[in-house]
Amino acid sequence: MNSKQTRRDLPYIVVFTTATMDGKIASKTRFSELSCPIDLKRLHKARLELGAVMIGANTALIDDPSLRLKYFQGPNPVRIVVDGKLRIHKDLRLIREKISKTIIVTGESADRAKIKEFRDLGVDVLTLRDTNGILDMTDVARALKDIGIDKILVEGGGELIWSLVSKDLVDEFRITYTGYIFGGRDSVSIVGGEGFRDKYESPSYTIKSFELCECGREIHVVYLREYK
Ligand SMILES: NC(=O)c1ccc[n+]([C@@H]2O[C@H](COP(=O)([O-])OP(=O)(O)OC[C@H]3O[C@@H](n4cnc5c(N)ncnc54)[C@H](OP(=O)(O)O)[C@@H]3O)[C@@H](O)[C@H]2O)c1
Repeated sequence: MNSKQTRRDLPYIVVFTTATMDGKIASKTRFSELSCPIDLKRLHKARLELGAVMIGANTALIDDPSLRLKYFQGPNPVRIVVDGKLRIHKDLRLIREKISKTIIVTGESADRAKIKEFRDLGVDVLTLRDTNGILDMTDVARALKDIGIDKILVEGGGELIWSLVSKDLVDEFRITYTGYIFGGRDSVSIVGGEGFRDKYESPSYTIKSFELCECGREIHVVYLREYK
């Protein structure tokens, strides 16, 4: 079975991220507000187009986003938080602001009382097989497809994107490169994790389109997974 056949059972996954010239999405102090107003509209258009947004637990905890739809008319996206160890808490906007469904994806070994607490608050909690709190993102993608999620916009951060890329689950990258540099060992890269050894381990992508942002300081590039 080649990867294209496998993918039919899985949602179409698009990563949208706004990065510095050196490929960082957050600085060593976790500053991450890089988008110009036009790029923000691009992001929200993708929320509307794809209908479901996924983030990692650190992004939920650090940025506390609502993931609501702005600038366009339409439903707010379904919000998915991947949190194998269930570290997020009920005071986050994703939990408090009942603007659309929130799904937490966590491990079977996560705290049962905390799972119940979230469910009592009306949050959907998917529990999947885990290894020390680490989920296989192919299982996660399949479980989401099984509940009717066909397309997912992944907004970060770097650890979650690595979890997906390392399983070759990302169909499309939309990256806005801004005219800034964060550098630093403790900043967050577009893709974190263990990393690949060389280009032969990496899935390959071709450029579908690119545009110079009207702001004159950003370039937005759309990469598609290339199958040979
Ligand atoms: N510039 C941008 O476009 C942009 C966009 C989004 C985020 N950011 C920034 O990125 C930073 C956060 O990135 P990050 O790399 O530190 O963290 P992250 O990817 O947001 O979250 C990592 C956490 O997600 C959970 N997770 C990810 N993959 C998993 C898997 N396979 N199994 C189980 N759990 C999994 C784990 O939570 P548990 O440890 O609880 O299991 C893990 O610790 C923030 O500073 C944020 O501002 C920037």
